[in-house]
Amino acid sequence: MSHNIACYRCGAPLGALSLPFSRRDQCPGCSADVHVCKMCMYFDSGVPRQCREDGAEDVTEKERVNFCDWFKPWTLHEVRLPHCLAILMTISRRRFLALAGAAVAVPPIAGCEGVEKVATANVPRSPFSADSTAEEVTEGVDLSGMLAVVTGCTSGIGFETTRVLAKRGAHVVGTSRSLENAEAACSRVMGDATAVQLELSDFDSVVACAESIRSLNTPIDILVCNAGYRGGGNERQLIKGIEKHFVVNHLGHFVLVNRLLDRLFLASQGRIVVVASRAAYSGAPAAGIDFDDLGMARSYSDSLAYGQSKLANVLFSLQLAEMLRGTRATSNSLHPGVINTDIDRNLNPLTRFGFGLLTKLSGKTIEEGAATSCYVASSDLLGSTSGHYFEDCNAVTIDGTGHLHDRAMAEKLMLVSEELTAEYLVEQRRPDWSESENGLQNKTDG
Ligand SMILES: NC(=O)c1ccc[n+]([C@@H]2O[C@H](COP(=O)([O-])OP(=O)(O)OC[C@H]3O[C@@H](n4cnc5c(N)ncnc54)[C@H](OP(=O)(O)O)[C@@H]3O)[C@@H](O)[C@H]2O)c1
Repeated sequence: MSHNIACYRCGAPLGALSLPFSRRDQCPGCSADVHVCKMCMYFDSGVPRQCREDGAEDVTEKERVNFCDWFKPWTLHEVRLPHCLAILMTISRRRFLALAGAAVAVPPIAGCEGVEKVATANVPRSPFSADSTAEEVTEGVDLSGMLAVVTGCTSGIGFETTRVLAKRGAHVVGTSRSLENAEAACSRVMGDATAVQLELSDFDSVVACAESIRSLNTPIDILVCNAGYRGGGNERQLIKGIEKHFVVNHLGHFVLVNRLLDRLFLASQGRIVVVASRAAYSGAPAAGIDFDDLGMARSYSDSLAYGQSKLANVLFSLQLAEMLRGTRATSNSLHPGVINTDIDRNLNPLTRFGFGLLTKLSGKTIEEGAATSCYVASSDLLGSTSGHYFEDCNAVTIDGTGHLHDRAMAEKLMLVSEELTAEYLVEQRRPDWSESENGLQNKTDG
């Protein structure tokens, strides 16, 4: 099997290269270092390719090869035993187990064909990867004196994020639909943690939650919009005419951010971290958010609704970053990984069993699952990084299908969300920054 490839930078043809492990070191056209990605060679058979790998980092190659890629070899006609053996020789334990797990996994959890993931330019690269834990990525980070808010602190990624941010010295406000559960979670954390009740599907509760946080009278350094809902049983549920995933996962957080934004402006560098999912491109409607049918009457499945709400998470963060330009505050979104948490609590037992098995075999641990949230929330490297989407502790750009970087859709989402929640929003003035002897000072009212 051979492939015609072209230089990732200038497009000069590099000729036909054959398997296995073929590489070119330098492009004759522009002298770029060209590393022919083994994975492109294996998986995109017959298609002329521009390999984007520069061979500089192994991490980059890992990123390209997401879980879904492992389905491909088994569906390609060209795959023959030597190729499969070569693949197995080059994959990590996680990838191997992913492949094994895939054999028993449920199809809706997978499925991101046609997607290319590349490292985002101009965002500092971290030394961390899918295997890094939240403790590892925050090693040496001092958050003392800071206030962090984590929605959905009672289980899974949210609890681990709360635990680690508190361990690094932050005072963490953790939320749950039940105050008792939030208190129980906060009491299990070593450090300073305060419980607040929050039901994201009820905007009065969101406003009350924001008021409780505001009553602490302190700037907010970190706001992690982590809480999430995923339905089961494919039964469409509406809240005031809007599909439930969209309300809980997006609109609730939309109102919360609005009501806390001025407190983020008061921080020396406020960070909004939106926990989305790669379902934003693998599970959302092909045409993106269907603004004409937010009740999803035309077409509904739990996966589609979850994917659409997660796309809304990413686009909200993108548009927020646009609004925050010129301030010290930033907004980024992320996919935490595939992790065995209670997020599958509403799935039917068989699907839950499949998801549990898949995540146990090939997913991340909860400690790894909280790493990207904690990294984006606290790394010194990212002080001015805004409007990006992260996976495995690094910013990535998704090419091909999906709308993750669609600015027009992000803008529309902001307008529609404002209309839908207008009565719960407060007017947020951009801060009036001025130079002083001590540096920038924020004149926004507390
Ligand atoms: N696990 C994965 O594989 C995965 C993959 C991609 C993305 N994610 C995302 O990661 C985030 C965390 O999920 P997880 O996996 O840690 O799941 P989880 O263990 O189920 O945690 C979800 C949290 O959200 C809270 N929550 C649920 N519904 C809520 C509502 N209506 N209002 C307020 N809070 C609510 C829950 O708190 P209470 O029940 O105490 O109220 C819980 O603390 C979610 O946004 C999820 O979409 C997870």
